[in-house]
Amino acid sequence: MLATDAMRLSGGFFDAPALICYLARGPGAAIRRARTRLPGGGENPVALIRVPRERMVGHGIASSLVHEVGHQAAALLSLVESLRPALLAHQQRVGQRARAAWASWQLWISEIVADLWSVARLGIGSTLGLVGVVSLPRWFVFRPSGADPHPIPWIRVQISCALGNALYPDRQWDQLAELWSQLYPQQDRNVGRQILEQSQAAGCTAIVVTVDQQAPFYERTQQNRNLGGNPRRAARGSAEAPPLKGPGLYRVSTGRLWYTWQYLDEIRTIIKVPMLVKGILTADDARLCLEHGVDGIIVSNHGGRSMDYGPSTLEVLPEIVAAVNGRIPVITDSGYRRGTDILKALALGADAVMLGRTTRWALGAFGAPGVQRLLEMLQQELVDAATAAGRATLASIDASIVKTRFP
Ligand SMILES: Cc1cc2nc3c(=O)[nH]c(=O)nc-3n(C[C@H](O)[C@H](O)[C@H](O)COP(=O)(O)O)c2cc1C
Repeated sequence: MLATDAMRLSGGFFDAPALICYLARGPGAAIRRARTRLPGGGENPVALIRVPRERMVGHGIASSLVHEVGHQAAALLSLVESLRPALLAHQQRVGQRARAAWASWQLWISEIVADLWSVARLGIGSTLGLVGVVSLPRWFVFRPSGADPHPIPWIRVQISCALGNALYPDRQWDQLAELWSQLYPQQDRNVGRQILEQSQAAGCTAIVVTVDQQAPFYERTQQNRNLGGNPRRAARGSAEAPPLKGPGLYRVSTGRLWYTWQYLDEIRTIIKVPMLVKGILTADDARLCLEHGVDGIIVSNHGGRSMDYGPSTLEVLPEIVAAVNGRIPVITDSGYRRGTDILKALALGADAVMLGRTTRWALGAFGAPGVQRLLEMLQQELVDAATAAGRATLASIDASIVKTRFP
């Protein structure tokens, strides 16, 4: 019913074919239309739409289905074929850099048109479903090559928000499209400058510079297994991988072993939006952040992925909060799983708590509604715990409700 309704177009542009939609089992491949022959023009007058069943959750159902309907409708209207020459002509008119962007539009136009159909029919519900679908691990959703006809996930969400804003102007599109951009420091300053300028030109509202993980995490058994060379890493085109030596022998990448505090001063001049530093675990480093013009600190141990003997973020929060003394926001993440964990962080002076894997687990299990549910659960747990502690407002949550010193 939904697919048939979504296919209808007033104005007599086409006779909508009969639609058969079915769920397929199996791993999360891209949605495929099994047959899309035009009515009367091919062997089959029926459009068959096959949707992997893991997409059939919450907003993902409607957005996936109507996206596929959009492909079928675009085929009936020859939309993609009619847009291609216009895109090509535009590509030839613009300069070198813009040309690359328009070449991507050429490559992605079929997907963009299908998303447009979905956004036009479903509004924000389509984009929310898309957020769920594109947030699946990339390997399940897209072919990892430069020739992928699907825009990369966040670009796809951005395009979908822009389409939505054009069709149904509302603040919600800006909120959904708002992004912070994360930067791993780049030793090649030109590359770093380019990344920062591009993210800001794309409208990101803050830059987060991740300073931990200067070396990849050292997991002993894994390193022991790999010591001496991993044949799969053989350089392409050469018969034998070059012998590993120095830090490379221990899988320590030298690409990040150069970080300095002056680097923050350098990029500060390029960054026009707030600059946050992520991966701070000591009061001394927090003080240095203040000296180097940082606008916000993220107390993080990278989700415990850098060193298994690193401190927990709750352990170091108090000294960092004391050093910062309210001058800039202190945010934290790594290991927050329950509302009570969040309450402890707020009590110890964090301004906000970020969630990493919990959101991805919820997304993997139940799609976008799973993340919604997760947030509701955490909020309820936080409210319950705050109530039990006799705190009616966020502002009244203070260090006196947690015990930090144990005999
Ligand atoms: C698979 C994976 C990849 C990550 N990649 C990055 C990254 O590229 N940059 C970054 O700043 N943090 C990265 N992180 C760390 C997260 O941003 C975040 O600090 C951490 O997951 C928070 O801990 P939690 O997952 O326990 O909530 C990654 C975490 C995971 C699990």
